[in-house]
Amino acid sequence: MKLPTDLVPAIRNAGKILVLTGAGMSAESGVPTFRDAQTGLWAKYRPEELATPEAFARNPQVVWDWYDQRRKNIAAVKPHAGHFALVDMEQYCNSMLLVTQNVDSLHQQAGSRGVIELHGNIMHSICSRTGKPIDNDWIDSNPGRPPASPHHPLGQARPGVVWFGEQLPAGALEQAMKAAHDCDICFSIGTSTLVQPAASLPFAALNAGAVVIEINPAPTSLSSMANFSLQATAAEALTAIMDGLADGK
Ligand code: APR
Repeated sequence: MKLPTDLVPAIRNAGKILVLTGAGMSAESGVPTFRDAQTGLWAKYRPEELATPEAFARNPQVVWDWYDQRRKNIAAVKPHAGHFALVDMEQYCNSMLLVTQNVDSLHQQAGSRGVIELHGNIMHSICSRTGKPIDNDWIDSNPGRPPASPHHPLGQARPGVVWFGEQLPAGALEQAMKAAHDCDICFSIGTSTLVQPAASLPFAALNAGAVVIEINPAPTSLSSMANFSLQATAAEALTAIMDGLADGK
C-alpha cells in the first residue's frame, strides 16, 4: 500500500511511541470484532446480556458458556503479519508502549513485551467475590459451569475480563494515560474509539501535541482529527510501515 510520504520519517524520528489496539487488530486472525455489523459479536448478542456483572449474577452458566466458546475460538487462532510488524517496530524504535483493549493475548503470542491489557484477559479466571485469580488447573479439575471459587464460599469462577460498568485495572489506565501525554507518536489501530476510557487515549495524545496515526478500514470519530488516517487493515498498513522503515525511505 502507498503511504503518505511524511509518515515513515515521522516514525523514524519519534522518541516515544504509544500504540493502542482494539478488536480490529485481531480481525485478520479470525477473532470477530464487537461492532462490525453482522459479523461483530454485538450484532448477535446485546452486550448487557453477557458482558456485565448483572448478567453473570442473573445467569452465570450462559455467560460462562459464552466466554468458554470465545476462549476455544481464540485458542484456535494465531497472530497475523500486523502483530509481528508491531514486534519489529518495538525493536526498531527507542521506546514503545503497547496498550490493548483486546483480551486474546495475540500480541503477547507474537512476541510483544510489556503489553498493557486494559480490559483483562479471557484466558484468565478470577473469583466473582474476591477478584482473586483462579488458576486453570482448578478450572479444569472442578465441575460446574462456572466452577465454584476456591477463594470464597459463595464465589464462582468468572472470566478475568473487564465487564461494562467495571473499573479498569488500576495501574494500567494510569500508565496508558501517562504514555498518551508523553508520546511523540500515538497509533490507534482497529478500534471504533467508542468505549471509554480507552477511547480517550488517542485524543489525549493529540491534545498533548503528539502525531496521531489511525489505522482502520472504516472512519471513526478520530479519523478527521488524526494526522494520518490510513483506511486499511492492520496487517496491510503495519507491514507497509515496517517495509518503509526497513528500506530507509
Ligand atoms: N484492521 C484494522 N481495523 C479493523 C479491521 C482490520 N482488519 N477490521 C475491522 N476493523 C475496525 C472496525 O472498522 C472498527 O472500527 O476495528 C474496529 C472494531 O471496533 P469494535 O468492534 O467497536 O472494537 P473495539 O473498539 O476494540 O471495542 C472496544 O468494547 O465491546 C467492548 O470490551 C470490548 O474492548 C472492547 C471495547
